[in-house]
Order: sequence, then structure tokens, then C-alpha cells
Amino acid sequence: MEVVLGVGGGIAAYKAALLLRLFTEAGHAVTVIPTEASTRFVGIATWEALSGRPVSNSVFDQVDKVNHVRLGHEADLIVVAPATADLLARAAAGLASDLLTNTLLMARGPVLFAPAMHTEMWRHPATVANVELLRRRGAVVLDPAVGRLTGADSGPGRLPEPEVIFQAALAAVDAALSQDGSLPQHGSLRQDDATALEILAGKTVTVTAGGTREPLDPVRFLGNRSSGKQGVALARAAAAAGAHVRLISAHLEVPPPPGVETIAVETALELRAETLSAAKDSDVVIMAAAVADFRPANPSGSKIKKRDDADDPVIRLIRNPDILAELVQARPQSAPAGQLLVGFAAETGDERGGVLEYARAKLERKGCDLLVVNHVGAGKVFGQDLNDVLILDRDGGTPIPAAGTKDEVARAVVEQVAAHLAPR
Ligand code: CTP
Repeated sequence: MEVVLGVGGGIAAYKAALLLRLFTEAGHAVTVIPTEASTRFVGIATWEALSGRPVSNSVFDQVDKVNHVRLGHEADLIVVAPATADLLARAAAGLASDLLTNTLLMARGPVLFAPAMHTEMWRHPATVANVELLRRRGAVVLDPAVGRLTGADSGPGRLPEPEVIFQAALAAVDAALSQDGSLPQHGSLRQDDATALEILAGKTVTVTAGGTREPLDPVRFLGNRSSGKQGVALARAAAAAGAHVRLISAHLEVPPPPGVETIAVETALELRAETLSAAKDSDVVIMAAAVADFRPANPSGSKIKKRDDADDPVIRLIRNPDILAELVQARPQSAPAGQLLVGFAAETGDERGGVLEYARAKLERKGCDLLVVNHVGAGKVFGQDLNDVLILDRDGGTPIPAAGTKDEVARAVVEQVAAHLAPR
């Protein structure tokens, strides 16, 4: 495919070289359009050498070829990385002040922005409004990663990792193709992804993931087998659909997706506090975390010693609050109108019917809108890369089966979330 890689004037411009490599190594042809400012960070010679194509940033080079029209029309995808606050503002305003912004105005295919800037700039109302406008127009604007920034500061504002941008860009192309009626090429995105992309763009989605750990003493805890892979895949899928995603992560065996705001927690009570607070401005909360139902009643402040002169310790457990139930309860007072709550359930049963019955009862009991039901058995689900679920809704609609990689299942869940958010 023909890719235009726009490079904005930020220190992260050097990372765009790695992104370029990912595209060329996957067999795509890339034309780089750096902004004038970005060439202070990475020179044109680097882009020409890495892309094997001539590089310019002016509409007045090769005027006879009318490059902005040609590039905009021919591009199957335009990726802007890093997208600075200035570039986002120019794109949102529809300015045509250099070759890149001219090309963006001529774009026919999907456009993805990967922002990088200081946290204050990202949170400034002007930038927030520009991002929202671009998303509403159908562009994919990734959330920046959280971490160390150029100076001593840290926070949201880092350029997402090149691999994340690459995957999100391919997902955007697939979504655009399926909107067209053509078949997705780069994965198994489903036909409703494009719609999901439209509905979720600009929405706030909170995802909880991983297994909570309940301390027994400073070195020991009660945990569970959750790897967090499904929750992380959900966060990735919602972000690829253009949502602002907040991942509240208990213990994960996989890294959280860069580009997603991540809040790390340990215990069910910490998870509860962060989730209840995040839910207040979330359009969707997906409770994929494996929350411990019980915690040690009296965790020891110092390491519990084995002693020959004392009885073996007995651990008394007390109930943890049911966070999902609290979210359901709090919704009428403190949540945005139309908030959608999604629960997960791991059920065992001898055959599918039994699992389904059990799941329906849980959906009813919990009062959430959607319940994603895993059928667990020996070796199934926990830590595996494949998953097999049924998605149930509260209105008693036909359960939707989804099976495949955890990313595929995540996309199916995100599709159902979008379908239930859509005005009916
Ligand atoms: N959950 C929660 N708070 C808890 C326990 C679970 O919010 N203290 C959420 C999970 O994140 C999941 C859903 O509730 O989305 C279902 O969890 P599960 O443990 O299967 O449900 P329980 O109500 O604990 O049912 P069971 O009696 O089968 O354990």
C-alpha cells in the first residue's frame, strides 16, 4: 500500500524512522513529508535514505507534479507521527500552510495522528477541542503514551511506540476498507469495525484488567491466574476505534498498550477507588479485571514468621465489595447519561447450556448491560492467547459468540459496545 508518513516538529521525530522501517519491511511504499520544524530534529537526507524516495516539505518543489494532490489521492493511508499540538491545530483548522497540511486536505483514505507533546499542551482546552474535532471527522487520533517526556517532566504526552502506531494504522485501513465494502486485508477486523470506529471516536472508555493481589504480609499475597491479556486487548481495540481509553491495571503478565492512559493498582480496594472515580466521566466501563472476592481480614504489617512454638497461622478472609454492582448502583446519580457497563464472567459448566443459564442469572444479578462469558475448564482461558466467549445483553438478545485471538475477541466486544451505544 502507498503510505504517507507526516513527521511533525518534535523530539520524537527520530522515532518516526522506526515506524517508517516497520512499514517498508512489511512491503509498503512510504513517502515521508516532514514539516519544516521537524527537519531541525531529523534531516531530509535520513528520510530519503530510509524511504528510498525524494522528500520535500514544500508545495513549491516539483510544482509541475502538483505533489500534494497526487500524494493525497494516491495514499491508502496517512500517518502523522509525531503529531505536535501545532500540527493537530493546523489539521483541525484545515490550514494548508505546507506540503503535509495540503496533503491532509487532499486525503481520500484513513488518517491517523500519533500525538507527542508536553502534558500541559495535550491537556490544554485548545488541543482537547482540536483532537475531538479531528476524531469527529473520522481521523484516528491515538492517545499519547504516559511516561518520561523531553525534560524532567513525565505524564501523558510520549509518542506511542512505533509498533503500536503501526498496528493502529493497519487497523484504521482495515476499518476504512470494510466501510467501503472491500475485505479487510491486515487482520480479521469484522464488518462492523468501521461503525464502531465512528461511534467510539471521542468517547471515554475505562477498562479494568489483570488480577488483583491481596496482601497477607509485606511479601505475600493472595492472587489469581488472570494474565490481563484480554483486558489489555480490549484497551487496545477501544483505542484503535478512536476512544480515549483509561486502563486500570491490576497485575498484568503483558505490558499495557502504549498510547493508553494506565493506572496501576494492586488490591481490589484500590481498583474499586480508581474505577469508581474513572466511571464518573466514562461512557463505557469494561470490568475485565479478575477481582478477588475476598481479602485477608488482618494483613500483617511485618513478614509472618514460621515458628516452632506456635500454631500454623489461619487466615481469615473478608468479602471485597462488588465493584460492578457499585457501578450499576452509582450510575443514575454520578455517571454520564447512557453509560454502558460491561461485566465479565468466567463460568464452568458441563455443557454450554448450563454455562448460559448461569451467565444469564449473573447478568440479571449484576445489572450490567453486557456480560462477556468465558467458558472455563482445565487449561482454558487463563494466560492463553486464544479465547472463546459469548456476549450476552440485558435485553435478552441472541448471545453473540466470539472466538479467536484475544485481540479478535476484544474487537468483537468493542463492536457490541458500539452497537449498544448507538442511538436506537
Ligand atoms: N467483579 C467486581 N467486583 C468484585 C468481583 C467481581 O466488579 N469484587 C466483576 C468482575 O470484574 C467481572 C464480574 O464482576 O466483570 C463478574 O465476576 P465474577 O467473579 O464472575 O462474579 P461473582 O459475582 O463474583 O460471581 P461468582 O459467585 O460466580 O464468583
